[in-house]
Amino acid sequence: MLEKVNKAVRHLNSQLPETPEVGIILGTGLAGLAEKIEEPLHIPYTEIPYFPRSTVAGHPGQMIYGKLGGKKVIAMQGRIHYYEGYSMKEVTFPVRVMKLLGIDLLVLSNASGGVNPEFEIGDVMILRDHINLQPENPLRGVNVDEWGPRFPDMSEAYDHACIQKMHQIAVDEGVVLREGVYASVPGPNFETPAEYGYVRRIGGDAVGMSTVQEVLVARHMGLKCMALSVITDLGVEGKIVEVTHGEVQEVAQRSEVTLSKLVRRFLAEA
Ligand code: HPA
Repeated sequence: MLEKVNKAVRHLNSQLPETPEVGIILGTGLAGLAEKIEEPLHIPYTEIPYFPRSTVAGHPGQMIYGKLGGKKVIAMQGRIHYYEGYSMKEVTFPVRVMKLLGIDLLVLSNASGGVNPEFEIGDVMILRDHINLQPENPLRGVNVDEWGPRFPDMSEAYDHACIQKMHQIAVDEGVVLREGVYASVPGPNFETPAEYGYVRRIGGDAVGMSTVQEVLVARHMGLKCMALSVITDLGVEGKIVEVTHGEVQEVAQRSEVTLSKLVRRFLAEA
C-alpha cells in the first residue's frame, strides 16, 4: 500500500507545475464545480498508477489541478464509492495521495437524503459531525505509522473554524446554510422509510453513501476537513417518495451554483 501510494504520488509530482494546497472531492452531480478551476490541468485516473476508476454515471474520473479562489487546488472529479466494489482502502487511496502531494485542507461535497424535518430539497448543509454506518473501515489493518496514529482522534473531524467561516460567508452571500450530522451508509440502495427513521433517531440530519471514509483517512493523516452536502431528497415521514439517481443528480446540479460560490469564496479567504 505504502509503495503504491508513493508511486502514484511520484507520477503526479512529475506532472504538476506546483504543490497543491487544497484537495477537493466532488460528489454526485457536483462535478461542474471543477469547471470553475482556472488554468486546469486534467489527469485521468487511468494514467495514475494504482488509481481506482470511477464506474458511476455523473462521476467522470479525473484529477484536475489548477487555481480556485486564488488557491492551488487538486480536485477529484469523480469520487470512488464502496458500492462500486472497491475496498475502503482503495476508495480512500486518492486521499492518501493528495495529502502526500502537499495539501493541508480537504474540501468534500456530496449529495444526501435529508432526515431532519426542517430541511428542504436543494438545501446545502455543512457537516458538523458524522456517524459511520459503513461495514468496513479504511484504517483497519496494520497501521502505517508514518501516515498517522493507530487510534486517530475524531473529536473535531470537521474543522470548527472552517464551519464558522462558511457560516459567515453564507450570511454574506444571502445563502441559507444548514448544519448537521451526516450518516454514511454503504448503499447502493436508497433507504427504506424505517431506515430513514433510524438515521434520524440516532442523531443524523442527512444520510449518504460517501465522505466519512475519506474523512477518516484525512484525519488519520492530520488533514483539516470541511464538507458540504446537498439535500437531494427527503427521508422524512410523510414526505418520502420514490428516489432515483437521476433526480439526485438533477437537484445536486441545481445547487451547484450555490455550492461553487461558497467554496470559491471560502478558498479565497482561507
Ligand atoms: N440516501 C442515501 N444516499 C443518498 C440519498 C439518500 O436518500 N440521496 C442522495 N444520496
